Amino acid sequence: MKSGKILILGSSNMDVVVEVDHMPSAGETIMASSKVLIPGGKGANQAYAAAILGGDAIFLGMIGSDDDGKALIENLKNVGVDTSHMDVTGLLPSGSTFLMVNKEGNNSIIVIPGANTLCTEDYIMRHEQALSDCDIFMTQMEIPETCVHSTIIRAKKAGKITILDPAPAPESIPDKVLKAVDYLTPNETELEHLTNIPANSIEAIKRGAKILLEKGVGNVLVTMGANGSLLVNSEGIRHFPSPKVNAVDSTAAGDTFNAAFAVSLSEGNSVEDSISFASHAAALSVCKKGAQISIPTREETETFINKINY
Ligand code: RIB
Repeated sequence: MKSGKILILGSSNMDVVVEVDHMPSAGETIMASSKVLIPGGKGANQAYAAAILGGDAIFLGMIGSDDDGKALIENLKNVGVDTSHMDVTGLLPSGSTFLMVNKEGNNSIIVIPGANTLCTEDYIMRHEQALSDCDIFMTQMEIPETCVHSTIIRAKKAGKITILDPAPAPESIPDKVLKAVDYLTPNETELEHLTNIPANSIEAIKRGAKILLEKGVGNVLVTMGANGSLLVNSEGIRHFPSPKVNAVDSTAAGDTFNAAFAVSLSEGNSVEDSISFASHAAALSVCKKGAQISIPTREETETFINKINY
């Protein structure tokens, strides 16, 4: 069966990853044990993940005309992402991040958006075709908010399945945008930002998700790391467990989850099966360090699913 096309709009960053013992507090100087450059950015990670997991992925994003930009686009092309709608600008450098990973595998990220700030509505207008050609449209919040909002609304009006990963957490999302979102995929922190309800228990998470449902979101899919995910929609609430793994770095786990979910939906699978596929792919991604470099292939994911469900 031919799978549907997935259009991913979002950021590309070169991640400067440093491994630290603990996160520094204000005024503290600490030593890092290593520094590596790894292609990342929430949008590009999702595009990379969608392609390597077997999806038909098109990416809309901006990079600078610099070495980082070349490396970022090459990495996407290598796994088969359609990059023909990406724009290169001489006005700003490619996006980059300083990403600290501690011993427990948790990260803290500082983003320098650079060329990502030029992902505007004008840019989308120039690549209208990509939007009309896709079946599923997905995005996140690392490019200008106005562009994220208006493109989701346009995608929904055009009859596409829409997925919004509200990361990094925005202060709020206008109701008219929420009404255009079929699947909103916050983690607990993002849910807290969007609802002002501390997501400190399953009950509180359910309450927060219901508020977003009432505002018009089709399905709220809360990702809770090792605690699995929670699907809240008009049919009720369902918990999906995460496979148990030895986590070393959570970078890009959310991106992998979102992309794997979209790939499975694009193949005509049910929402439940797609969440299960996404949970397995995301669990594998936390077993390796880095962003795109940690995302498993389709084959690795299927082998893992067969092994642990044997
Ligand atoms: O979601 C992980 C990504 O967030 C990293 O690759 C980094 O670029 C930041 O944007």
